[in-house]
Amino acid sequence: MKLRGKFNSMLVLVFGLGLGASAYTSYQHLNENARDEVLSNARVLMETILSARTWAVNEVGPNLRETEDDEEVLMMGIPAYAADKVMEAVQKRYPEYGYREVALNPTNDKHRPADWEAKIVNAFRSDVAKTEEWGIRQGPKGPILYLAHPIEIKQAGCLACHTSPEKSPPQLVAKYGATNGYGWKLKEIVGAQIVTVPLSVPIENANHMFVTFMGTLTGIFVILFILLNMMLTALVISRVGAMAKLADEVSKGNLEMGEFNEKGTDEVAQLSASFNRMRRSIVKAMKIFGKQTGGG
Ligand code: HEC
Repeated sequence: MKLRGKFNSMLVLVFGLGLGASAYTSYQHLNENARDEVLSNARVLMETILSARTWAVNEVGPNLRETEDDEEVLMMGIPAYAADKVMEAVQKRYPEYGYREVALNPTNDKHRPADWEAKIVNAFRSDVAKTEEWGIRQGPKGPILYLAHPIEIKQAGCLACHTSPEKSPPQLVAKYGATNGYGWKLKEIVGAQIVTVPLSVPIENANHMFVTFMGTLTGIFVILFILLNMMLTALVISRVGAMAKLADEVSKGNLEMGEFNEKGTDEVAQLSASFNRMRRSIVKAMKIFGKQTGGG
């Protein structure tokens, strides 16, 4: 194999390994970043909704119930209602965000958990120390990230409506019935808040960034490859090639070819200078040898 072949196969091998390693790490990294960003947005949303819930149960509800008996107004003191209202507003601007509040024994049947949601609630119930669960599930339009927090009855205020129909505001009992959403206890984990965000757009963006990054890297490698080859030709191959040709001629006895004209201090220039000296010595030796044989 010629010098260029060896050099280029080495370059291709090194570039290939470099590209492969960069592709692997950057792909992981970009996708993890995309997911982490979605996750942290979901956490912010979760906290926002939680604040609205707390505000409703601590500030709004107790004051309302003393003075109001209008059902519509009483709804404002219900944390789940406050959560729904906040989400409605958020979804106007960010329609892709979803939020659900589920309970195993729900007041409103729309909060009855699906199988996967019930699993999450039960996981929270069996491990009280667990404060968060997140994961990725396949939705109808692609992967969805979900973030779940347990709903624990922390305030006695919750029990004003979730203990028994007799203790609850009659308007709400009339609206929701007297069977479900009661019998909850303090410190009990009754359900979960679940925020969902589709991952397809962030993943698409991450993939787009990945393609741009790898394209740029490949471009840099190609330019480097061409530059290195040009340098190899100019600095080594063409000079050593010319020298080899001349050496070949000298070895065949053709001493009239002239000398190398290599200037500079690099190894090839040194080699050509040595070669020139060697050729001169040979010419001198031949002359002496010729005289001796001619005169003898
Ligand atoms: C003023 C009465 C009232 C208070 C106080 C109240 N809730 Fe509720 N809660 C309701 C009603 C009514 C619903 C159903 C709302 C709907 O239609 O979405 C509900 C819904 C829920 C849900 C959704 C599942 C379901 O039952 O439909 C959860 C979880 C929940 N409440 C937890 C709590 C917690 C925790 C507190 C205390 C921080 C609390 N609630 C305080 C009346 C109340």
